Amino acid sequence: MTDLTREGVSALLTTARLGRSLVTCAETGSTNDDARAASTAGAVDGHTIVADAQTAGRGSRGRSWSSPRGTDLYVSVVARLPLPLSSLPPLTLAVGLAVAEAVESFLPAARQPLVKWPNDVWVDRKKLAGVLVEGASIGERSEPVVIGVGINVNRRDFPADLAHPASSLALLAGTSVDRTAVLAALLNRLEPWLDRFVAEGPTPLVSALHARLALAGERARCDEHVGIVEGVAPTGALRLRTAQGEIACVSGTLRPCEPTDQTPA
Ligand code: BTN
Repeated sequence: MTDLTREGVSALLTTARLGRSLVTCAETGSTNDDARAASTAGAVDGHTIVADAQTAGRGSRGRSWSSPRGTDLYVSVVARLPLPLSSLPPLTLAVGLAVAEAVESFLPAARQPLVKWPNDVWVDRKKLAGVLVEGASIGERSEPVVIGVGINVNRRDFPADLAHPASSLALLAGTSVDRTAVLAALLNRLEPWLDRFVAEGPTPLVSALHARLALAGERARCDEHVGIVEGVAPTGALRLRTAQGEIACVSGTLRPCEPTDQTPA
């Protein structure tokens, strides 16, 4: 992994904690599993693991995350947040916002990255990145959170069986992109969002999402519910205006409505 080194990343970091303890590895099962093991072994807050390839990359809702060698970013961060597990659901959106802000500078101005609730980053209605936040608790005590991010950086082909259309920074920018610079940008954006979330709760996050929420104002489907996407609640739930009134979706997959989606909104 010659293009993604500790020295290269360190030189670009503006963080106090994230990425200051950094492990790079050629191949692993899942960087989220490695980060969990590291946190159990006492890794510092902000400890970061990045892999060139994953053999068992995990996505949300039990899906796998395709992780070929040498093209993309597979990164996990140990976050020791002084928050109860119950306040963490909006954290996934804070990470998505940080990813969207980080990748923006690598894209042409017309291609604004958006957060697609709850854990995708979308550009031109295609998936560019995914977030997998994993928390744990022992009794009342919250264990460190593991924040996993996969960003399609230089991939030009995707598996034919992907559930949703995907793209990469290279495809969108029309040129290869430096993974080191993308990783540093991610960590530099993520740390202030984590700090803000701890200090101020979800309010700044919810207002920042107004400008970056995919499908906002559009008719969309969240599992069995169809309605107009209104925004995100402070709990992290998706606000959907259905024919029966506004509902808060706490989990599910959000997708644009197909012409066959009959339920009136
Ligand atoms: C999703 O969109 O479903 C979430 C994808 C998260 C993928 C990343 S890649 C780094 C980290 N390690 C994993 O096994 N998963 C996350």
